[in-house]
Amino acid sequence: MSKPQEILTAWKANGGSWIQAINQQELASRNAATNAAIINAINTHCPNSILDLGCGEGWLCRALVQSGRKVVGIDGVSSLIEDAIDKDQSGSYYCHDYDAIRKGALSQLGQFDIIAFNFALFEEQGTPTLLSQLRHHVVPTGSLVFQTVILGNEESSGWHQEDWRALKRDFPAAFPWYYRTPDDWKATLQESGWNAVTMDRILHPESGASLSLIIHAKLLP
Ligand SMILES: C[S@@+](CC[C@H](N)C(=O)[O-])C[C@H]1O[C@@H](n2cnc3c(N)ncnc32)[C@H](O)[C@@H]1O
Repeated sequence: MSKPQEILTAWKANGGSWIQAINQQELASRNAATNAAIINAINTHCPNSILDLGCGEGWLCRALVQSGRKVVGIDGVSSLIEDAIDKDQSGSYYCHDYDAIRKGALSQLGQFDIIAFNFALFEEQGTPTLLSQLRHHVVPTGSLVFQTVILGNEESSGWHQEDWRALKRDFPAAFPWYYRTPDDWKATLQESGWNAVTMDRILHPESGASLSLIIHAKLLP
């Protein structure tokens, strides 16, 4: 199985545990800072339309809904999309995986002010092709905004395995994910037709530890 297939297969197996973990607010870093950080990062652009890719069970879409705003959530795992629809029946959620998006599956959805990912970019070679395709789904003045993992400065880009040991709940499948350093993200974005405008480290409010990186990117001319 290729790495992208392994990632998606694992997420299909983990859907039920993930929903429970989110429902019970079991991810400490999210409660401490990263959930609020991605909401604020997106809202600084005052967008009228947002496409949330790898939306999971849809919490971010629900948090971003405002009157007059179009919010669409997409994920490759049908159980997560079904849960998103159950929780928000007036919302717009569709099941497409990144491979389908690379092949144009979102062409009916038009263009958005913001395309967002919250901890949902795990591939190595597939990511530049996905980001490149997404240029067609953002308005010319729009932005790509995503939150991702940050490791220590000595860490180079490379594959890791999430074994879920940090969480109390049982997750059936470990999954591989590709870590990119901030410099590697800049280069990947450039290669995909985007310019990284700002990169903000999100810190734990008490310990000051780095929890994540939020990147805002604009289309290259
Ligand atoms: C860590 S979860 C984050 C979910 C959500 N963004 C959130 O903040 O709770 C990663 C998400 O990426 C989705 N994902 C991973 N690989 C995918 C792929 N190839 N196509 C579509 N979705 C994918 C998973 O199904 C999962 O919902």
